[in-house]
Parts: sequence; C-alpha cells; structure tokens
Amino acid sequence: MSEVDVNENDDRFMFKYRGIYFQATYTSPQTIDSVQDFEVKDSDVFLVTFPKSGTVWTQQILSLIFNEGHRNGTEKIDNMSRVPWIEYNLYQIDYDSRPSPRLFTSHLPYYLVPKDLKNKKGKIIYVARNPKDVAVSYYHFYKIIVGITQKKDWESFLDDYLSGKVLCSSWFDHVKGWYNHQEDFNILFLTYEEMKKDLRSAVLKICRFVGKELKELEVEAIVEKATFHNMKQDPLANYTFVAEDIFDFNKGTFLRRGAVGDWKNLMTVAQNEKFDKFYNEKMKDVPMNFTWDIN
Ligand code: A3P
Repeated sequence: MSEVDVNENDDRFMFKYRGIYFQATYTSPQTIDSVQDFEVKDSDVFLVTFPKSGTVWTQQILSLIFNEGHRNGTEKIDNMSRVPWIEYNLYQIDYDSRPSPRLFTSHLPYYLVPKDLKNKKGKIIYVARNPKDVAVSYYHFYKIIVGITQKKDWESFLDDYLSGKVLCSSWFDHVKGWYNHQEDFNILFLTYEEMKKDLRSAVLKICRFVGKELKELEVEAIVEKATFHNMKQDPLANYTFVAEDIFDFNKGTFLRRGAVGDWKNLMTVAQNEKFDKFYNEKMKDVPMNFTWDIN
C-alpha cells in the first residue's frame, strides 16, 4: 500500500491513493487494493467511466438489457443495486455470491481495475464524453455533494478540474489511459455524444458486445426508458434514491440537462482558449477518434 495523501483543501472529503482522488467516506486504500484481486467471471460486464460522462445513463441501459423485470416494471430495484460500483460498495453487497451475469460500475483508471480484466476475462464498456461538458456537469454536480463545504466558483473549479484536483483526478489521464491500453482488455468504447445522436444504435451496439439478442419490441422499450426525459422521472434511475447524507437535491438534480455542448453556456472565451491549449498539449500523443466536436 503506498502512502495516502489527504487533500487538505477539501475537508478530508477525498483522499489520494495511487494517483487518484477517492471519496473518503465510502472507500479506503484497502478496498482499492482488494479490488485488484477481485475474481472476474467471463460473463461479468463492467461499465467504466470518468464521472459525469453518462454513467447512470449506461447503468439504466444495462439494467434494461439484462433484466426483464426492469423493462416491464415488475421489479422495483434501483440502478445502483443492479450495476453497483466495485470500488464504492455502498449497499455492502456480497459481490462474490451475486448471480451471473453480474454487472458492475467503476470510475477506476485502467491500472487499478481487477487484474482478471487484463487477462480478458469479463467485458468492459467505456463511455467517454466531451471533457468540456464533463467539466460543466461536474461543476454543477459538486454543488449537490454533501460533505464538500468549500464550494468553488466556476473559474476555480475549472482550474481544479484541469489539474486533476477533483474526485477521480484527471479526465485526460483517465481517458488516455483506457484508450492507450485498450488492447489489454475486452472493451467497447462508446461516447455520450453518439448515444445522444442515435440511442437505438448505441443500445444495439451494447447488445451485440454483451451477446444479448433482444426482440425489436424489447429494444424499443429500452430506448424509450433510457431517454433523458423518462429517466429524469424514473425513481429507480434518477438517483433520488441515494441517501440524503450523500446528495442534497435541494441544490440541484443528478439528471440536470442531458445536453451536448452545454459548456458553451458557461465557459468564457478565455477559459475556452485555455482549455483547448491544455487539451491539445495533454492529448497530442493520442490518436483519438471520438465523436465529439471539441468546439
Ligand atoms: P448534465 O449534468 O450535463 O446534465 P454521470 O452519470 O456519469 O454522473 O453523468 C451525469 C450526466 O449524464 C448528467 O449530465 C446527466 O444529466 C446526464 N444523463 C443522465 N442520463 C441521461 C440520459 N438519459 N440522456 C442524456 N444525458 C443523461
């Protein structure tokens, strides 16, 4: 276990371990270490994202693909129980004895996930989003997190985001790491933007990848229940089920806007120029072909 570094600016809300900031209340360095030895089954599916990139959206899609009771409304199980975080086991579920196929979520960088995944056991769906929209979404999200007492203004938040002083650290390192190591994993890359553009195609892509053949009507039901409008009103999908000592929904909502390009409403011209410069420098060696238009 390497040394734990507490971020003094954030009231011990987060700690840094192996290069990444974690939420202190719900995980520990011991848990992060133990995740690497977690035994993966071939039928496991891991959803991996940097925060605010479409995690709960994809959790909903996976829940709908794998659980008929989610699709036809006969089961009332929330998405965090269906696709729980591997590094934040909030409900203290016994993952080992969970029936297959097991679904998990993670914000971990490529080098901290279960080692079995690197031996191509299990499948990973990685969802990425335009980092400018992620920054804006994250800024609003920070307002509803209980435990951060020093809420930053947009300008300072953006500086923290660029320098990786936010939960899960640097967007750039996260995406770059996963992208550059994709050959090591059984992985499907998706973007938030392509899901927005054509949700049905994204659902079909996921179905193919996880080996689920669904009837046309089932696919339609998934698409319908995974729209922003419907998810926002769905108490099992909109994260209002999360305890009030974690999120304060008087300060905002989890499903906030669900749009592409919202950064244009918040970023000044100078901030955008600074962002582009930073992006070009950090991503210059990555031959990425993602679907967002950075501008
Ligand atoms: P905004 O804050 O821009 O609205 P995550 O789940 O990774 O934390 O990401 C949250 C972001 O995904 C929020 O973005 C949220 O509104 C958006 N989102 C969630 N469900 C969505 C859906 N069905 N369609 C589009 N965006 C969705």
